[in-house]
Amino acid sequence: MGKLAIIGGTGLSEIGDPGRNDKQTIETPFGLPSAAVVEATINGKNIVFLPRHGEKHTIAPHRINYRANIWALKTLGVTHIIAVAAVGGITPDTIPGHLVCPDQIIDYTYEREQSFFSDDFSATKHIDFTYPYNQELRKKIMAACNKVKLNLIDSGVYGVTQGPRLESGAEIIRMEKDGCTIVGMTGMPEAALARELNIDYACCALVVNRAAGLSDSLISMSEIEKIVKVGMCDVKQILGYIINDY
Ligand code: HPA
Repeated sequence: MGKLAIIGGTGLSEIGDPGRNDKQTIETPFGLPSAAVVEATINGKNIVFLPRHGEKHTIAPHRINYRANIWALKTLGVTHIIAVAAVGGITPDTIPGHLVCPDQIIDYTYEREQSFFSDDFSATKHIDFTYPYNQELRKKIMAACNKVKLNLIDSGVYGVTQGPRLESGAEIIRMEKDGCTIVGMTGMPEAALARELNIDYACCALVVNRAAGLSDSLISMSEIEKIVKVGMCDVKQILGYIINDY
């Protein structure tokens, strides 16, 4: 049915307990990806793993070479990507620890390389992006959550900010008015680049904090770390189930 890749975000820099673990440094026409790509066999299934922020989480969201990452995965024959992300919650139901499978995106980023076709553009290169995420892959995430009995908010609008700073309170109020339900820094251009190369792409987001101005306290990195630690175990369970079933 194709080849599955996991792009790991904050708190998911390695994929647990791979049977075979091949690391490949892949050069692309757009430079090097965030890290060597790991080809792992998990429960007899071959999957590919790439930590978006690098092996030691040293690459900031606005410095990630999104084009190299997606191109490298395509080179390895990847047909499906599940992108894992840590995000802030905007709507009242998106509280820390909850999982969200967004179905829409609003892109607030700037000065990122948005396309593989920047230098040789033609009218045929416009991608349809009405539904930024692949519905079949989203259903697999939802089914896996059901199976492992984890609650998932099964739709949402991922507002993608430039970072690396967090947002101001007013920015979050504006994003809420725009219809964003979660906020993160890495959802774009990743999703659009995958679409340009015809790779099915969906996102599994872990809410790690209430967005700026929405709780009584300021955003605390140590609180976020605690949530990430527990929440990424949930995410790994879901991924394990999806990989098993793949
Ligand atoms: N804003 C943007 N990105 C994030 C946040 C946030 O509140 N939390 C985790 N990633």
